[in-house]
Amino acid sequence: MENFDQIESDILNKIKNVNNQSSLDSIKTEIFGKRGVITELFKKIGSLDQSKRKEYASKLNALKTKVTEILKEKFVDFGQSEINKKLKNEKIDITLPGRDYFAGKIHPVSQVIDEVTSIFAEIGFSVEEGPDVESEYYNFSALNTPENHPARDMQDTFYLNRSKDLLLRTHTSPVQIRTMLKSKPPFKIIAPGRTYRCDSDQTHSPMFHQLEGLHIDKNINMGHLKGCLYYFVKKFFEIEKVKIRFRPSHFPFTEPSAEVDIGYKIQDGQIKIGEGDKWLEILGCGMVHPNVLKNVKVNPKQYQGYAFGVGIDRLAMLKYGINDLRAFFESDIRWLEFYGFDPLDVPTNYRGLSR
Ligand code: DAH
Repeated sequence: MENFDQIESDILNKIKNVNNQSSLDSIKTEIFGKRGVITELFKKIGSLDQSKRKEYASKLNALKTKVTEILKEKFVDFGQSEINKKLKNEKIDITLPGRDYFAGKIHPVSQVIDEVTSIFAEIGFSVEEGPDVESEYYNFSALNTPENHPARDMQDTFYLNRSKDLLLRTHTSPVQIRTMLKSKPPFKIIAPGRTYRCDSDQTHSPMFHQLEGLHIDKNINMGHLKGCLYYFVKKFFEIEKVKIRFRPSHFPFTEPSAEVDIGYKIQDGQIKIGEGDKWLEILGCGMVHPNVLKNVKVNPKQYQGYAFGVGIDRLAMLKYGINDLRAFFESDIRWLEFYGFDPLDVPTNYRGLSR
């Protein structure tokens, strides 16, 4: 009969010395596989003499049970050490503070441009854009601005070359010219954008924003201009009644020209738009000068209309109670956190300030 004790100690020795899972797998096959040591021993049973068979079988079963158990333990050991290894390598430091979720805010200027655009869209205005770097022609000459006009002065305009034919646009009015040159009337557009002037104090910044409006068609008159601006001011400031005054003014590109003031008062330290006996200038406007129309090959006898230009930053300051224009462009995240607007899809775990 086989020396089961010897076989057992051989097998157990082998198992004991294994140091990784895949060697253990192959040892298992060496023992229990098709040609495995124990499998072979089982195959012998049938050929054994009846007298020896019982003892042989019981010893063999005991061996099988023992080896199976030891193998199992070893497998568990390896499994455990695998997990421990992972735990060690992928350690999470639960004492670290969580990372703040920071959702950006919409800048008041962007917010106001969106508001204004949708208000004008309701009454049929579409949006046009023009470049920040403009030619002298579009910015001044085509807009009927004479050679000696003070706005052309070096002190007001950022010129980009010595010949002074390239500049940073001083207003959004050149978009009127670009729009009218590229298609045929009627025109009904607004043009929001950046504008530049050599100026800096609490209410002026060298870069600021304007919104241009232009409506050209047959039989457009000042009544339309007034109606349009009333509508805009009421919608924008969200007030039913608003005091507006048209004050005669002068712009080279309009005739007649006017500046528009809105009534306001200060109540409990807060500005109230639309009522009161104080006046605040918010925009310039007028009927487009025939010379401008001629410059863009539109016949002023057939077509006429109005134009206006509003300071977007100033609208934002008035509506949202912001009193220093310069802070708009200082990129101070705390300022934006306070005065900015939540995007529409604010995540639920957002922890920033909301207004
Ligand atoms: N461009 C003028 C400015 O920057 C504003 C303005 C006035 C625009 C009258 C217009 C207008 O379109 O008709 O001060």
